[in-house]
Amino acid sequence: MPHVMDAMDQAYSVHRLYEMSDRDAWLAENGAKIRAIGTDGHLGASADLMDCLPNLEIIGCYGVGVDAINLDHARKKGVVVTNTPDVLNDDVANLAVALLLDVSRQIVAADRYVRSGQWLKKNMPLAKSIRDRKVGILGLGRIGKSIAEKLQVFGCRISYHGRREQSDVSYRFFPDLVEMARDSDYVVVICPGGEATRNIVNREVIEALGPEGTLINVARGSVVDEPELVSALVDGRLGAAGLDVFAAEPKVPEELFALDNVVLQPHRGSATAETRRAMGDLVVRNLAAHFAGKTVLTPVT
Ligand code: NAP
Ligand code: 8YV
Repeated sequence: MPHVMDAMDQAYSVHRLYEMSDRDAWLAENGAKIRAIGTDGHLGASADLMDCLPNLEIIGCYGVGVDAINLDHARKKGVVVTNTPDVLNDDVANLAVALLLDVSRQIVAADRYVRSGQWLKKNMPLAKSIRDRKVGILGLGRIGKSIAEKLQVFGCRISYHGRREQSDVSYRFFPDLVEMARDSDYVVVICPGGEATRNIVNREVIEALGPEGTLINVARGSVVDEPELVSALVDGRLGAAGLDVFAAEPKVPEELFALDNVVLQPHRGSATAETRRAMGDLVVRNLAAHFAGKTVLTPVT
């Protein structure tokens, strides 16, 4: 974002790696000068990149998900990593709720129905109400809790799955993800990406959710076995899906394009001007704290 780059340009000598024609040559010549990386949730920071920067002190990530940053390597090298938690909870949760409502009330599909002139021929079939529906949240963290609060206002019944039960919430806990999917009308995925959660939403989970069930994914594409998801939607073994994230973004499986029971977003959970500004400010404030010799505001521990 321009305001982030302006703030960085004022405080530091900023080198834009994405503009370098020969990155390896540039890193070999200049790597030792670099003390900080500014990156985002997609580009992250690999072990190889960190190894090219022997004086690296801090990685500031524009995004809360840090699955694209090699955290083990950063820890071994004593590199501080910061992210942007909390400031994006509201907007990411809003998109999850919007997807859930959209898939249920077929807003995008109905828009296509009107524009293509089909309403002139007959009325659309009835949609589904979300009141009293069971919503299972995979990952009841900062954003998951915000989704749960918002969905309660719509009359949804909330449960969750994670690695442990949380003593300070009253929602039903499922230690087993398949059991939660079997009990739910909707599963909302909002846990971190990375190896620990890779494909945990697998064929068994998808089939437990079933032909009347809906999957909403606003976490990471890696959490869901995407080929299984696509074939279940195409075959009708899963009812519907609202997807903001994909396994190989920005590539989206084209089989999904023809399905009216699927709503697709180009990874827009936090993409409002207000939230992106707050995220950018937090990246800048973390770097400033570090270089002032203070504790960073939002370290990834
Ligand atoms: P958070 O506060 O750390 O919450 C993560 C939750 O996931 C926790 O409740 C945790 O519970 C659970 N969890 C962690 N590992 C798990 C595992 N192996 N199996 C099951 N549950 C697990 O994180 P957050 O700030 O809410 O963000 C969550 C994720 O959302 C981010 O990491 C990011 O990938 C994604 N995100 C996407 C967008 C977007 O634009 N679509 C925007 C922001 C964030 P336990 O510790 O009890 O397991
Ligand atoms: C951003 C996100 O789109 O915070 C996250 O984890 O996925 C989103 O907010 C992304 O990180 C910005 O690059």
